[in-house]
Amino acid sequence: MSEQTLVSKEKLAERVREMGRQITDDLMGQQVVMICILKGAVHFFSDLTRAIDLPVNDVMDDFMQVWSYAGKNTTKVVTITKEPTVSFKGKVVLIVEDVTDRCYTMREVVDYFLKHGAAKVLVAVLFDKPSAHEVEFTPDYIGFSIGPEFIVGYGLDYNEIYRNVPEVRVLQG
Ligand code: IMP
Ligand code: MG
Repeated sequence: MSEQTLVSKEKLAERVREMGRQITDDLMGQQVVMICILKGAVHFFSDLTRAIDLPVNDVMDDFMQVWSYAGKNTTKVVTITKEPTVSFKGKVVLIVEDVTDRCYTMREVVDYFLKHGAAKVLVAVLFDKPSAHEVEFTPDYIGFSIGPEFIVGYGLDYNEIYRNVPEVRVLQG
């Protein structure tokens, strides 16, 4: 297995700051609960939440864990293994996800928040693979649109390794 750099840590930081500015403009004046989808979105979430400049009373952070992958393959069955605890009823939920691939995961997660009373659900994804979608889904905020390649680093894993790599790489082989 070999790896090749796709996005440097400088480019990641720059794009996340831009996304933060846009989300700040769009959500000013609203009550927002930001949801980190564990574990892959952890670094993106940490950087994005600090790049969003909304009043402190208007933003809460929480975490959710969802399971669907084994190695490079989705099982299509999405299981929620940790539910959020912060109350998001009547608020805007901003889901922060690492990558949308076939989109089974985001469809399930968005439905969960709508079913449990969110006023509105938005999705910010760092990487979108439009050519891999099997479920119809369009993220509201996209960091980078990429091909169907398997990527690792900046939180993204292959069998739990590579998450600590500061840049994003394509895994080949
Ligand atoms: P989906 O349901 O196929 O959209 O899968 C999305 C989930 O699969 C993400 O939350 C990731 O955890 C994982 N995933 C999809 N593509 C990749 C990848 O290229 N690298 C690492 N994880 C991925
Ligand atoms: Mg994930």
